[in-house]
Amino acid sequence: MIQIHDKQFVPYISEKEINLAVKKLASELTTDYATKKPLLIGILNGSFMVVSDLMKELKFDLELSFVKFSSYEGTKSSGKVDELIGFNQDLTNKDVIIIEDIVDTGNTLEKVLTILNNLGAKSVKIATLLFKPTVFDKKYEINYVGLKIPNIFVVGYGLDYDELGRNIKEIYKLKDNQMLNIVLFGPPGAGKGTQASRLVEKYNLYHLSTGDVFRANIKGKTELGNLAKSYIDKGHLVPDEVTIKMLESEVNKNPEAKGFIFDGFPRTDVQADALESFLTNRGTEIKVMVALDVDEEELVKRLLLRGKDSGRPDDANEDVVRNRITVYNDQTAVVADYYEKKNKYVNINGVGSIDEITERLYNAVDNI
Ligand code: IMP
Ligand code: MG
Repeated sequence: MIQIHDKQFVPYISEKEINLAVKKLASELTTDYATKKPLLIGILNGSFMVVSDLMKELKFDLELSFVKFSSYEGTKSSGKVDELIGFNQDLTNKDVIIIEDIVDTGNTLEKVLTILNNLGAKSVKIATLLFKPTVFDKKYEINYVGLKIPNIFVVGYGLDYDELGRNIKEIYKLKDNQMLNIVLFGPPGAGKGTQASRLVEKYNLYHLSTGDVFRANIKGKTELGNLAKSYIDKGHLVPDEVTIKMLESEVNKNPEAKGFIFDGFPRTDVQADALESFLTNRGTEIKVMVALDVDEEELVKRLLLRGKDSGRPDDANEDVVRNRITVYNDQTAVVADYYEKKNKYVNINGVGSIDEITERLYNAVDNI
């Protein structure tokens, strides 16, 4: 881990991986430009390292130039004026390749393109070491991409955080140690809902119960709700794609949350993987899975009791209840292994008074 200004960063892309990405760019450019004597234009400051390494891999005739883009307050009321500092090259009949270290929203590059396109180049293409496809929202194409990365902030290999970090050989990403994301695990009837509200209270988290979100959708008769209902009523699992989309949209709706309690999710390894890559994209992760351990007869007793006044159709009938527990044991319980392998699994005795169980949970979370 390294510290730059006020923030901490952890290793993300190794020298070797960077090298492979540069070689990939070089081989694609060689295929397309070996006989064209192109003009490479590196966008300063960030691109100096990738341009240098890339140049060493390109074995054909080419020219090189650097530009620095600047946007300043113009004298006329029209506002901002964009210019390329130190750029006085004639581009007539040139095949231009813009070299970038990173393309994020694509705003900067869009302005650079506008200027270059007015200078009469024969062709203008873009090559970038890093590309954040989930943030990019422009019409133009990024023609050559070394590596796609999610929407996270990175430094090193030319990239800076407030002007520092450019001289690091590897690429680091911002370390997230803020969010407390918990998977609350256990069979139906284990008391997840009750305990989730205790965790919400103490740690100021946002409770995301797949079941509750599904039921809200079902009640609202949304498309997703109707689809989910057909599975839930039979005691089956809702398909992964449906569940994952729904969860992502709930997380996205709460960008200020201190953390999330995932309750009823993930239920399969596929979902766990999807959750992991989704959270990684947001620069965060699951900190712990806490599992409430309750034996089957106690579960059936609790669920049938709950079914009497909750009105939940899946709690009303003993066969459906037992089937849900069987589905949990057969299909869902394996997800515990997923987190155990990552050293993130804690088993909690889920039998006792509500307060006792809460106390066990608080201890587990405080011990992360
Ligand atoms: P744009 O959003 O594509 O216009 O990106 C503008 C500039 O922001 C890039 O050229 C980089 O200098 C900088 N930038 C975007 N993402 C990152 C990052 O993750 N780390 C460091 N600089 C970045
Ligand atoms: Mg840059």
